[in-house]
Amino acid sequence: MSSSVEIRTLTTPQELFEAGAELVAHAAKEAAEERGRFTIALSGGSTPRSLYNLLATNARTSLPWDRMFFFFGDERHVPPTDKDSNFRMANEAMLSKVPIPQANIFRVPAENPDAAAAAEAYEQSLLKFFSPEPGQVPVFDVILLGLGPDGHTASLFPGTAALQEKSRLVVANWVEKFNTHRITFTLPVLNAARCVAFLVSGTDKAPALEAVLQSNASAEQYPAKLVHPANGKLIWLVDRAAASGLAAA
Ligand code: 6PG
Repeated sequence: MSSSVEIRTLTTPQELFEAGAELVAHAAKEAAEERGRFTIALSGGSTPRSLYNLLATNARTSLPWDRMFFFFGDERHVPPTDKDSNFRMANEAMLSKVPIPQANIFRVPAENPDAAAAAEAYEQSLLKFFSPEPGQVPVFDVILLGLGPDGHTASLFPGTAALQEKSRLVVANWVEKFNTHRITFTLPVLNAARCVAFLVSGTDKAPALEAVLQSNASAEQYPAKLVHPANGKLIWLVDRAAASGLAAA
């Protein structure tokens, strides 16, 4: 189980994004001060775009961008210019608008037609950057995650092979329903983080959020249930619409 689990319900999506931006900014300043650098893995999809925008506008001058290092918790198997690219979304919303050295941005080489090779290359870049002890897993300061309506997170989709991965850090995960590979962090990396923060917004996520947080549905069916940082914080930042299916705690 995580050392701590917190569920914060924000009234509106805007307040949710502001809370998410505040969480990242606070963690970045603290990590840069305490450890000289801040490492974060970004989530993709559409929800976090507004959070990234807020960081690029409200925190452009107040964060130690030169000591912040950005990775991606998952990526679609497309080039970085593709409309579906998580890198493209984060780059447009934030990374291209802040004074961060390009060397601090670790993009998944998802343009490689061989998804397994792309995953292997990305795993090597994690190992090179973190230089973990043998058998140890890289520890991110923050990993941002979203929640799909089917209960997936990162690119850990229900019933897919990546859910069983216990040793690799990054894999190419075949997702039948999209007829494509996704490149994704595995659960060992997610569960090694100092802080995992889910950002969940909208009524379309209410059934999945209720299933993940309050039902005894199987984790295979709702992979977000498998995310419990062993020595880290687990924070669910949700808006009222997404939380509408939750029984009052
Ligand atoms: C991705 C994400 C994925 C996302 C959820 C929610 O590559 O799409 O990493 O896990 O967080 O699918 O997506 P939305 O924010 O678009 O609802």
